[in-house]
Amino acid sequence: MTLVGKKEKIDRRGVIEEDNNTNNGYISHTKNFNRHLLDDFYSTVESTEFYDLAEAILAEIQDPNDVVKCAEVVSKREPGGAFYRAKLWAKISHLLEDIENEKKHNLELRQLCELVGLPPNKAKGYIIQGKAIESVEKAFINTGNLREAPPALFQYAQRQKDRAGEYLIEAAKIFEKKSSATPTQIHREWCHKNGSIKANLDIIKPSDWWAFGHPKWRKKEDFPGSIPGEIYANALYYFAPKTGVAVDAMAGSGMFKRVYDDRDRWQKDSAFDLEIHLFDLHPCRNFIQKHDARKPLPIKADWIFIDPPYFGQSNHLFDGDLAAAKHYAEYLELLKEVIVALTASLLPNGKLCIFLPKWSGLKPENPNYDVPADAYSLAINAGLHWIDAAFVSRARQQEPGSARKNNAAKRYRRMRSDTCVLNVFEKSGV
Ligand SMILES: C[S@@+](CC[C@H](N)C(=O)[O-])C[C@H]1O[C@@H](n2cnc3c(N)ncnc32)[C@H](O)[C@@H]1O
Repeated sequence: MTLVGKKEKIDRRGVIEEDNNTNNGYISHTKNFNRHLLDDFYSTVESTEFYDLAEAILAEIQDPNDVVKCAEVVSKREPGGAFYRAKLWAKISHLLEDIENEKKHNLELRQLCELVGLPPNKAKGYIIQGKAIESVEKAFINTGNLREAPPALFQYAQRQKDRAGEYLIEAAKIFEKKSSATPTQIHREWCHKNGSIKANLDIIKPSDWWAFGHPKWRKKEDFPGSIPGEIYANALYYFAPKTGVAVDAMAGSGMFKRVYDDRDRWQKDSAFDLEIHLFDLHPCRNFIQKHDARKPLPIKADWIFIDPPYFGQSNHLFDGDLAAAKHYAEYLELLKEVIVALTASLLPNGKLCIFLPKWSGLKPENPNYDVPADAYSLAINAGLHWIDAAFVSRARQQEPGSARKNNAAKRYRRMRSDTCVLNVFEKSGV
């Protein structure tokens, strides 16, 4: 199949005018039948007839030049326009599937877009919408109400990218219960179950800068000190083996288990099959075992994560020696015991992930402790070697009510600590 520069334009009624000076050579024995079909399609007013003709066009017309014009004409119709525009674009995409050469494929798509004056990125969006509708049809779910839905619903679906099909299946089910549901109501219900699109952006970060503005796993009210689950997801994704033992030795709210149980959301092709264990000095969930991390773990592990109470910031949140340490030297002494015990708990080639922020007093005369660097020295002295680090935004400067602290930081020329460092160490193979 080739597209040639046949000069045609669509008038306001949707009738195709041909420039007979050129001939694209598209000859088919069904041409007359198709021409009638197209003429009827462009001129029909009544909705049921329009739907029947649209289905016939989808089944019969094989020339992408014609399909693209139908998609454009149909888009002006209400109801049904957005639905059939998407389906027709999906059909165009299927018609172009045979073109293996990517450059040639894109060129053909561009030429089709030019024919109807549509930017290619819009066409690609309609293709996503159309393929999402096809998933609903493949799931044998009634598309009757979906067919009449306004364009906004398909745009919401498109924004879910590879979950667009799931989105429309959900929408079709909602329509079955309430045919008058609006796109906003449907979208709200989707976000309620699946999180907003912002929270659904790829959890795994491509670089060592990890900022999670809309954490997917919400904090539990009884444990305000949990970290965004995305940190566990990235620490596992990049540093854990696919099988073996993974431990959170200061498990707090149990966020680690929530994220691991939800790994289909982020593990891509990793297929993790880990044995996970959670410990804490003060367990607050029944799946967390009581254990003081200053003593070796009762099991050996391939991957251990710790998010210790932060120096000088957490004694209002947690019980436990690290949280309560008044002096930095005391804090480091306790941290040393933890790091030595956890190093002993690692299997050969096991990884220890230590998540800590710097501690900066508010004024220049206050101490400024580089806690991650001190933990680094403790880990190296314990016999581990450093393999990587990631820097995680704490988003403190954007917290409500931070203006006074932000202004004070600038006035006193003392930057606030707004980053946690995840240092990752490895035990040598024996
Ligand atoms: C910052 S919280 C961890 C929060 C956890 N990452 C989450 O997302 O829910 C620190 C935890 O360390 C625990 N902890 C403090 N000292 C400990 C110790 N010596 N051994 C084990 N856990 C300890 C505290 O009880 C607290 O639950």
